[in-house]
Amino acid sequence: MIEIKDLYKSFGDNHVLRGVNLTIPEKKITVILGRSGVGKSVLLKHIIGLLKPDSGNIFIDGIDITRASNKQLWNIRRKMAMVFQGAALLDSLPVWQNVTLALKVHDHMQEEDLRRIAHDKLTLVEMAGSEELMPSELSGGMKKRVAIARALALEPKYLLFDEPTTGLDPLTAQKINELIKGLQKTLGLTAVIVTHDLQCTFTVADKIAMLAEGKIIFEGDIEGFKTSNIPLIKQYLATFSITRG
Ligand SMILES: Nc1ncnc2c1ncn2[C@@H]1O[C@H](COP(=O)(O)OP(=O)(O)OP(=O)(O)O)[C@@H](O)[C@H]1O
Ligand SMILES: [Mg+2]
Repeated sequence: MIEIKDLYKSFGDNHVLRGVNLTIPEKKITVILGRSGVGKSVLLKHIIGLLKPDSGNIFIDGIDITRASNKQLWNIRRKMAMVFQGAALLDSLPVWQNVTLALKVHDHMQEEDLRRIAHDKLTLVEMAGSEELMPSELSGGMKKRVAIARALALEPKYLLFDEPTTGLDPLTAQKINELIKGLQKTLGLTAVIVTHDLQCTFTVADKIAMLAEGKIIFEGDIEGFKTSNIPLIKQYLATFSITRG
C-alpha cells in the first residue's frame, strides 16, 4: 500500500503540492486525475523517489521513502516500474532489447534468458512476434505496448503510468486502456495512473483521486465521482459530455 501524508512541494513561488493526502490500495487501479499543469507528474515523481518533498511523508509498504536509507530505497524501487509519457524506447535497439533493458542493469543475465523474458512480456501485451523490429517500425500504440512490456519485465508490484493515452487516437487509446485493465486483473498488480483523460479513467479506475489546487479534492469510485457535487468535478464532467456529443 502507498500512503501519502500532507505532501508539500514548491518550485520557487510555484506552490504545486499543498498538502496532498492519498491512499493507494493494493491490487487495484488508482487514477490520479487532474488538468494539465496541476502537478500530476510532480506527484508521481515523488512516489518513485525522483523528487523529494519540502515536507510530508510517503509510506510504501510501511517505509517512509522520504526518510529511507539507500538500501531501503533500493529495495522499494525494485518493486516499482514506470511507463513514461512518451514511450521512451531506444531507437537504436530492437524491441526485445528495449524490453529487457532495465534487467541488464539490475542483473547479470544470458542473452537466451533475456530473449525468453522479452517474448513472455511481449505476449502479455499482445506483441509477440515483434521481437526483432526496430522502434521506428512501430505505431504509437505498439510503442506504448512495448513500453508496458519493458515495465512488466521488472515484475513490479507497483506499476505507474504517466498519461498512458496521450498522443494516441481514441480507438488506439481505448485498446491501451483495456490492456491495462486486463493486465491488472491477470497479474494482480497495484497500478497508479496519472491522466487528464476521463475516457481512460472511466475504463480502468477502481479508485479515482482528483488533484486540483495542490490537493486531492476527491477520493472515491467512478459512481461517486460522476455524482459528486464538487464544482470543479462538475465542470470537468461537463466538458467530457460536450466532447462526446
Ligand atoms: N523540476 C521542476 N522545476 C520547476 N518547476 C517544475 C518542475 N517540474 C514541474 N514543475 C512545475 O510544476 C507544475 C506542475 O507540473 P507537472 O508536470 O506535474 O504537471 P502535470 O499535471 O503533469 O501536467 P501535464 O498534464 O501537462 O503533464 C508546473 O507549473 C511545472 O512548471
Ligand atoms: Mg504530466
